[in-house]
Amino acid sequence: MLLRSSSDKISRKSGAKPVLKPTNPCFSSGPCAKRPGWSLSALSKALVGRSHRSQAGREKLAQAIALTRAVLCPPEDYLIAIVPASDTGAVEMALWSLLGPRPVDVAVWESFTSDWAKDIVEQLKLTNTRIFQASYGALPDFSEINFNHDFVFAWNGTTSGVRIPNANFIPVEREGLTICDATSAAFAQLLDFTKLDVVTFSWQKVLGGEAAHGVIILSPRALTRLETHQPAWPLPKIFRLTVNGSVNAEIFKGQTINTPSLLAVEDYIDTLSWAQHVGGLPILIARTDENAKVIEEWVEKTPWVEFLAKDPDTRSNSAVCLQFSSLSQLETETQRRDCAKRMVEMIEAEGAGYDFGAYRAAPPGFRIWCGATVESADVAALLPWLDWAYNLALEEYSAC
Ligand SMILES: Cc1ncc(COP(=O)(O)O)c(C=O)c1O
Repeated sequence: MLLRSSSDKISRKSGAKPVLKPTNPCFSSGPCAKRPGWSLSALSKALVGRSHRSQAGREKLAQAIALTRAVLCPPEDYLIAIVPASDTGAVEMALWSLLGPRPVDVAVWESFTSDWAKDIVEQLKLTNTRIFQASYGALPDFSEINFNHDFVFAWNGTTSGVRIPNANFIPVEREGLTICDATSAAFAQLLDFTKLDVVTFSWQKVLGGEAAHGVIILSPRALTRLETHQPAWPLPKIFRLTVNGSVNAEIFKGQTINTPSLLAVEDYIDTLSWAQHVGGLPILIARTDENAKVIEEWVEKTPWVEFLAKDPDTRSNSAVCLQFSSLSQLETETQRRDCAKRMVEMIEAEGAGYDFGAYRAAPPGFRIWCGATVESADVAALLPWLDWAYNLALEEYSAC
């Protein structure tokens, strides 16, 4: 592999292999690390083998909803439901149930929002749709959004490490609905619910719950839309939030549309209880910020790496995405992709960090999950391994 000469680039020197490893080497962006102290015994009270429609099952599901409300604090008149098929299920349920009566604006700046745009244009065939696109690392120009249209967007781009810094660009008074995929933002960033009509997320992200189910939170305006709008397309049973034209109130009390995993429910209850115990949302956000700060300090002193997010104000604290800087010795996209892959392999083989490669469709580099269940000491322990692996990977390539 041809590398740039080191004369105009940073010098390369093999460092000693780090000794310290993260206590918990899990840095995946979903399923994310389990909460500190988690073990299977946290699930000992799970209602396995019982019906979710039994009194005890209903109570567990209602408890999960109540704890979600207690930690996230949406306005009292917003309703919360546990829904099938993770965050994707929750987002698509919203798109299929609510869209149609108004033109739609979609903000696309990474992989999942691109999927939602495809759903709207190619599956729902809503021709009156405008897509506001930005490449990885940037945000689209929100000043162009028309809030009399429905607006679909993600609060945090998990695959690009770019988030919206706030919802100031969304007016309180608006005709359209704002549909926000918040899966890697909920419990890590402050969501401004007054600007959001639909908020979705899944359990395996910031709280490291077991994956399976999604959560959808609906504003009164979204609930009104459900009752006043009949979609022009067929609505699969798992998307149906109404009965005979009225909102199905039972779903929002925990009577799920289909069968949930009571093991996953128990795990979600456990992690929400942990969240409450450590101090609730402000502490979850502070923990995430602190983790991201550890990486920021390392990037500042590490010339070969930089944030994918161009503007520091839009840098995600949860899904922290990094790429090789122009000072690295890797000139081509292929070199960068190969090197990142090799580095992840080397670090995984040492058991010093797992699953922190960039998303497959994103520019080559790394995505280190920094959500609230990750300990900052573990992030700090991972970073010397990246320096070590970078130098070793370059040495290997030079020798080829
Ligand atoms: C922004 C965003 N939306 C949707 C998804 C899909 O989530 P799930 O796998 O819970 O359906 C992800 C997964 O990482 C995501 O980051």
